[in-house]
Order: sequence, then structure tokens, then C-alpha cells
Amino acid sequence: MSANAYSSTQKALHWLLFVLVLGLYGLTYAEGLFQRGDPNRALVWWLHISFGLLLAALVVWRVALRLTKGAPELPDSMTGIERTLAKFGHFALYALLIAIPVLGILLTWFRGDALSFFGLITIPAPFAPDRDTAGTIQELHNLCATGILILAGVHALAALWHHFIRKDNVLERMLPERR
Ligand code: HEM
Ligand code: HEM
Repeated sequence: MSANAYSSTQKALHWLLFVLVLGLYGLTYAEGLFQRGDPNRALVWWLHISFGLLLAALVVWRVALRLTKGAPELPDSMTGIERTLAKFGHFALYALLIAIPVLGILLTWFRGDALSFFGLITIPAPFAPDRDTAGTIQELHNLCATGILILAGVHALAALWHHFIRKDNVLERMLPERR
């Protein structure tokens, strides 16, 4: 589906998710700041899961908008292979945005923990804990998290290349409108 432009909600969600992905990744390093047994370590993961659930909800909203409102056509100046790479890259970013929270939720439950959204909503594990499965899911969650950082880095370079080398409107159409 194609549209004339990304809506302001689509743009806001793009940049909000960018901040959340970086923030959630960065937050995982905060555990190392505290000694073993320090309750702040648990607080780090409580925050990671709460903000992670916020990300999950925003991803659902973003995908729903993408499916209903679509995205603007790529510029005519792009070659066939560039279009294919852009479309495949965007698809992979969406796939990782979905896979990471799904794995995060399963990881929490397979560890035997309840999901808490800032203590406002708590969803207990619907199945029995399993350490081996939790270990495998943790590796996958970590792998996808690293994958999205690398892919988003390439994606950001591509956006800058469009702006400074190709001098087309691809970066601008994801930025807030100038008055
Ligand atoms: C884009 C969003 C996210 C990123 C970038 C991210 C990244 C990470 C990373 C790098 C780790 C460390 C893995 C390791 O040490 O092996 C981690 C652990 C974890 N994440 Fe996420 N995560 C995200 C979203 C979520 C969500 C939505 C949930 C659950 C609702 C979640 C739950 C967890 C749990 C339970 C752990 C393990 C904590 C522990 O070791 O005690 N994550 N995450
Ligand atoms: C975690 C980081 C990021 C993720 C997950 C992400 C994800 C995405 C996705 C999935 C799209 C496709 C939109 C659609 O077709 O509906 C997109 C578009 C776009 N992103 Fe990102 N992005 C990230 C960071 C960045 C950064 C840092 C920049 C700029 C430096 C950027 C610039 C753009 C631009 C210009 C578009 C529009 C491309 C077009 O119109 O075809 N993104 N992004």
C-alpha cells in the first residue's frame, strides 16, 4: 500500500521506537553497576521489562498504521536493486521489532517471573518455568537485539547517504514537517 507521506503519528512512532530500542539496550549494561544481591539489579530488569512492554505496544500500533496507511513510494532515482535492499531492510527491521519483545515476554515467563508494566498491570506466567528453554530464548533475544542495532546502524547510514550524497527527500520525509 502506498501513501503520499508518512503521517505525523508514523514519524513520531519511528523516532520514539528508535529512542526506546537504544535505551533498552543501554539499560542492560546498568546491571553491571551494582554488586550481586543489590536490589537495584532487579530494578534494572523491572525497568527493562516495563519499557519493553511499552515498546511492544508501540510496535503493534506502528505495524497497524503501516498496514492501513502504507508508506510513500521510493524516489524514481533509485535503481531496482536499491529498492529491493530498502524494502528487505525495512521488512527485517519490522521483523526484529516484533521478534524482540515476543522473545522478551517468553523469556520472562520461562524464567518463572510475572510480566509487570510499571507495577500497574501484572501478568503471571501461563506455563511452568523451564531453565533450559529460558537459556535458549535469552540467547535468541540477545542475538536479535544485537542484530537490530547493526541493521539500524546500516539503515541510518543509508538515510544519511540519501540526504547528503543522493540529495533526495528520503530522510526529510521521516522528519517533522517544517513550518
Ligand atoms: C528492542 C527492545 C529490547 C532490546 C534492545 C533488549 C535487549 C536486551 C539485551 C541486550 C539483554 C541482555 C541479554 C544477555 O545478557 O544475554 C536483554 C535481556 C533481557 N530482556 Fe530485553 N530487550 C528488549 C526488549 C525486551 C522486552 C520487551 C522484554 C520483556 C517484556 C525483555 C525482557 C528481557 C529479560 C527478562 C532479559 C534477561 C534479564 C536477565 O538477564 O536477568 N526485553 N534484553
Ligand atoms: C532502532 C532504530 C531504527 C529502527 C528500528 C528503524 C526502523 C525503520 C523502519 C521499519 C522503517 C520503514 C518504514 C515503513 O516503510 O513503514 C524506517 C524508515 C526510515 N528510517 Fe528508520 N529506524 C531506526 C533508526 C533510524 C535512524 C537513526 C534514521 C536516520 C538517521 C532513520 C531514518 C529513516 C528514514 C529516513 C526512513 C524512511 C525511509 C523511506 O521513506 O523509505 N531510521 N525506519
